[in-house]
Amino acid sequence: MSNIGIFVGSVYGNAQHVAEEVKAALTDSGLVSEVYNDPSIDDFQNASKVIFISSTTGMGDIPPNLEFFIQDLRDQMPLMANKPFAVAGLGDSSYGDTYCGAGNQIFTLLTELQGNPIADLLEVDACETLEPELEVVTWVKSLVKYLA
Ligand SMILES: Cc1cc2nc3c(=O)[nH]c(=O)nc-3n(C[C@H](O)[C@H](O)[C@H](O)COP(=O)(O)O)c2cc1C
Repeated sequence: MSNIGIFVGSVYGNAQHVAEEVKAALTDSGLVSEVYNDPSIDDFQNASKVIFISSTTGMGDIPPNLEFFIQDLRDQMPLMANKPFAVAGLGDSSYGDTYCGAGNQIFTLLTELQGNPIADLLEVDACETLEPELEVVTWVKSLVKYLA
C-alpha cells in the first residue's frame, strides 16, 4: 500500500488549504496520504511517494516552515532511489523572475536526490486564479495512476 507524503510550504495558508484538499481527493481515490507542514527527514524517507505543495515568499524563497527541512535535505542528501515525486508551486507572476522560485528550487533538489518526477512542475499563478485548490486537485487526480 502506498503511503503518500504531502509536504507543504505555506506562509498565509493558501498552500496548506490546497494540501488538505489534495489529501481529501486522494482519500476519495482510495489512497492513503499524510500532510506534513513541519516534516522530518524520517517523514520524507518513510513516504513511498512524495508530493510537495509550496508557495514562494520573499524573493523566490522557501516558506519559513519548510526552510530548515529543505536545508537538512541539502546537507544530508538522502537519495530517493527513483521514488516518485511531484511538485506544485503556488506563486504570483507579478514577481517576475522569482515566480514560483520555491517550487523550482524543490523540483531541482528532488531531481538531484534522484527522485523520479511523475509530472513537470505545476505552477499556479495567483494572478490567474483565486482557487488554486481546483487546479492542483485536478492535476493530482491526473497523477493517481502513478501514486497508487
Ligand atoms: C511577501 C510576499 C512575497 C512573495 N514573493 C513571491 C515570489 O518571489 N515569487 C512568487 O511567485 N510569488 C511570491 N509571492 C506570492 C505567494 O507565493 C502567493 O500569494 C501564494 O499563493 C501564497 O501562498 P501561501 O498562503 O500558502 O503562502 C509572495 C507573496 C508575499 C506576500
